[in-house]
Amino acid sequence: MNTVISPIAGCMRWGKWGANFSTYDYETIINQCVENGITAFDLADIYGDYTTESDFGEAIKHKHTLRSTIKLITKCGIQMVCDNRSHHQIKSYNTTKEHIIKSVEQSLKNFHTDYIDVFLIHRPSPLLNPIEVAEAINQLKQQGKILQFGVSNFLPQQVDALKNCIEINYNQIELSIIHLKPFLDGTLDNCLQNCIRPMAWSPLGGGLLSEDEHPRFRIIYSATSELAEKYNTGINQILIAFLLKHPTHILPVVGTTKIERLLQVKAATNIKLTDEDWFKLYTASTGEEVA
Ligand SMILES: NC(=O)c1ccc[n+]([C@@H]2O[C@H](COP(=O)([O-])OP(=O)(O)OC[C@H]3O[C@@H](n4cnc5c(N)ncnc54)[C@H](OP(=O)(O)O)[C@@H]3O)[C@@H](O)[C@H]2O)c1
Repeated sequence: MNTVISPIAGCMRWGKWGANFSTYDYETIINQCVENGITAFDLADIYGDYTTESDFGEAIKHKHTLRSTIKLITKCGIQMVCDNRSHHQIKSYNTTKEHIIKSVEQSLKNFHTDYIDVFLIHRPSPLLNPIEVAEAINQLKQQGKILQFGVSNFLPQQVDALKNCIEINYNQIELSIIHLKPFLDGTLDNCLQNCIRPMAWSPLGGGLLSEDEHPRFRIIYSATSELAEKYNTGINQILIAFLLKHPTHILPVVGTTKIERLLQVKAATNIKLTDEDWFKLYTASTGEEVA
């Protein structure tokens, strides 16, 4: 079994949608990640208006040893309107068999590789046909073009509708101290029940906690800082340790463009919050004592 290990480097902000890394910058951060045991990279067809996969691919081109060391995660399903897809008239979802296969083939070209380690359906389209998705995924798996399959932003009932047709290994969801919904809406219970590994996107709250004007964020920031002092560590480590305590073994997908912050996150795997400290953070976020 080709399992992804924690944490995952999220690359959404590495290209046109953020830092605008050069090929050299990509090579540098990828090498630094790998040297420090961060070997999984999360992308999507649409990142950087359909450019980030190929920017990343340029940096790993012809590096066969590196390719076998890293895990590539990518997604399809969202269709954006942008210069690179001028024939799209409206932002929409596409989870047809034809689109999934075409998108994976394009991702393979972009990455200069012949397999994707983990392929995810980016959003639960109201038009998603489980049988069609299963046909596409089974075909791609049989051809060795994808190794594992998962979904993203799926609610429990959407997972259930699809899992009858195809094995689901991951559900990538928004999850952090400022976004606790999956703890409450059954998404994480569904992961436990079905042995689905959750991946948490925006696990640092997208950097929002650093903007301390918002009263709720100030309270969360203060609780997090207190624990950072207690555990002799930093804010980001505590934010990640909060997620790692959950029994589903959450995989944080960290979106920083800075290697220092990725290393902070890696260090969080050694922090074991007590149950009471976990509830201090949880309560700071909900704003009320548990019942
Ligand atoms: N499946 C989906 O629908 C979906 C949706 C969104 C994202 N994702 C994935 O999840 C990954 C992470 O998402 P994200 O980037 O929104 O989340 P994130 O990891 O929570 O946030 C990263 C952002 O926070 C900033 N940041 C982190 N620590 C900070 C600090 N102490 N002070 C100030 N700024 C700080 C980073 O800036 P620096 O770069 O300066 O560190 C970066 O802009 C993405 O790269 C993508 O792979 C998936």
